Amino acid sequence: MNILFIGDVVSSMGRDMVKEYLPKMKERYRPHVTIINGENAAGGRGITEKIYRGFLEAGAQVVTLGNHTWDNREIFEFIDEAKYLVRPANFPDNNPGKGIVYLKMNQDEIAVISLQGRTFLPPNACPFQKADELISEARERTSIIFVDFHAEATSEKQAMGWYLDGRVSAVIGTHTHVQTGDNRILPQGTAYMSDVGMTGPYDGILGMDREIVLRRFLTGMPARFETPKTGRAQLSAVSIEIDKKTGLAKKIEPILINEDHPFYS
Ligand SMILES: [Fe+2]
Repeated sequence: MNILFIGDVVSSMGRDMVKEYLPKMKERYRPHVTIINGENAAGGRGITEKIYRGFLEAGAQVVTLGNHTWDNREIFEFIDEAKYLVRPANFPDNNPGKGIVYLKMNQDEIAVISLQGRTFLPPNACPFQKADELISEARERTSIIFVDFHAEATSEKQAMGWYLDGRVSAVIGTHTHVQTGDNRILPQGTAYMSDVGMTGPYDGILGMDREIVLRRFLTGMPARFETPKTGRAQLSAVSIEIDKKTGLAKKIEPILINEDHPFYS
């Protein structure tokens, strides 16, 4: 069982990369399920229904979110009907949406869980305790469990990887937008990577217009970040192979596509 996970899609430039390269990646990596983190897909902040549906039409089955979940107000109109949209599970209990989704594929089922870190991010409920809760629920149905851990601090991400080792198929970090080179299979069989990276503007700063970000660093004055409209783009993803009997990982392979790392089909 193969999982393809595409990291934080930023703006139309990121969405175009998904459309262009998802079919090519499917040919090479043969995923049974494709998951996209889409929390920055609408101009860098949040997601709209059209974009969510666009990801499913482009070939994804599940879309995960993060700290920008509520930034585009349209989310409140469709999140409860969007069956395969997952927001961090440790948000307050009275929030709309859900933090775990089950996807059936023939005889197999995969559980996709979204969690958000608390270091340098809002003080939500404990993601470790929430993980325990959801994993015991998911294991009643399946041993194939994918966790998108949306967090700022690499230490918190590594802690989650070690905490869940052997209990889930993969813990993959999102949010920091730069692909890390620490992909590995932990000793008890969980695939781990601190951050899958960003899909979107290649010449910006974390996907945002670099001139605006630079100005803020140079002047200390407030500035609203915007995504660049044109320029080169990149795609960041990871392919994971899982033993569907045990739910444990056999292989984890990072994917980075940009002009400096071309994709040869
Ligand atoms: Fe984020």
